[in-house]
Amino acid sequence: MKILVVGGAGYVGSHTVRLLQSQGHEVWVFDNFSRGHRESVPSRCLIEGNLTDRALLIEVMRDKEIDAVMHFAAFALVGESVQHPAMYYQNNVSATFELLEAMRSVGVWRFVFSSTTATYGQPEKMPISEDTPQNPINPYGFTKLVVERALEDYAHAYGFGVAALRYFNASGAAADGTIGEDHDPESHLIPIVLQVALGQRPNVSIFGNDYPTPDGTCIRDYIHVDDLASAHLAALMKLQPNSVLQMNLGTGVGHSVLQVVEACRKVTGHPIPTVDAPRREGDPACLIADSTKAQRELQWKPKYVAIEDIVSTAWKWHQSHPRGYAS
Ligand code: UFG
Repeated sequence: MKILVVGGAGYVGSHTVRLLQSQGHEVWVFDNFSRGHRESVPSRCLIEGNLTDRALLIEVMRDKEIDAVMHFAAFALVGESVQHPAMYYQNNVSATFELLEAMRSVGVWRFVFSSTTATYGQPEKMPISEDTPQNPINPYGFTKLVVERALEDYAHAYGFGVAALRYFNASGAAADGTIGEDHDPESHLIPIVLQVALGQRPNVSIFGNDYPTPDGTCIRDYIHVDDLASAHLAALMKLQPNSVLQMNLGTGVGHSVLQVVEACRKVTGHPIPTVDAPRREGDPACLIADSTKAQRELQWKPKYVAIEDIVSTAWKWHQSHPRGYAS
């Protein structure tokens, strides 16, 4: 297929681009590099542009005879979305409509969308299945839910075939350590812990040790970025006109913040000191995916389940790229 990967120079996007190319698909990456990295994808497939430029999107889709769009281009930080909701509504909602309308003009109907566990808010029941009510508690989660709802309408009214993939905690890096996670500033747990092992930070702050979990720290479901990529490919292959797939992507196994730190100690051999810090606003105590639907309907299975294996790939990336793509 000829696939336009919007936001393909970002973390999950770049790993998916690599997988699609390895499977023989023709891939074009559309990115404005506001958060993505040119170095993360082959330059021959790069198209620099903004999602708000509907005319350019139409031109690209016509010119490259695009069959399918994967949309990774979004802001994805909960705290930032609370402080700057306008940015999130503009980029994650309004700009996404330019993309959908460009697709409609050209007649491209296949769409794979990066959604998030943040659309669920703080569910009581674990693990989280797709029929758990979606009640986001921050603007980020709400912007993704708005698009999910719109996609249902586009599928029914305009014949789109869509997949909304609700990621849990994307983590790890390509097994060869050549591409990986590089955010500025970094706020995610695993890269921060590994920065301590690299000597770039003195310690890790543990945001809250009095949550109602066995060791008092928050539990998350860490899913390897290459497993997210393979789910995107599987979902793309399942798309049918007038249909909607909504799937959780996680491993079904939760790890606490302290367990992640311990896994990083094992992998790196570094003592990784921690300091207790106040809770971070908006952090749910526990988020674990029930992803049996994706496993059943996409015939997909995460290859990485052991947290040490996920951390090992991230460690390989961070050691070889101590300053990310600027290394
Ligand atoms: N944490 C720390 N110390 C740190 C960084 C993180 O204790 O220095 C803790 C957090 O409080 C949280 C856990 O580690 O309990 C994981 O935090 P991350 O920032 O790595 O990930 P989040 O679970 O907060 O965020 C992820 C995605 C978001 C998505 C969110 C949905 O990165 O895009 O899940 O809940 F919105």
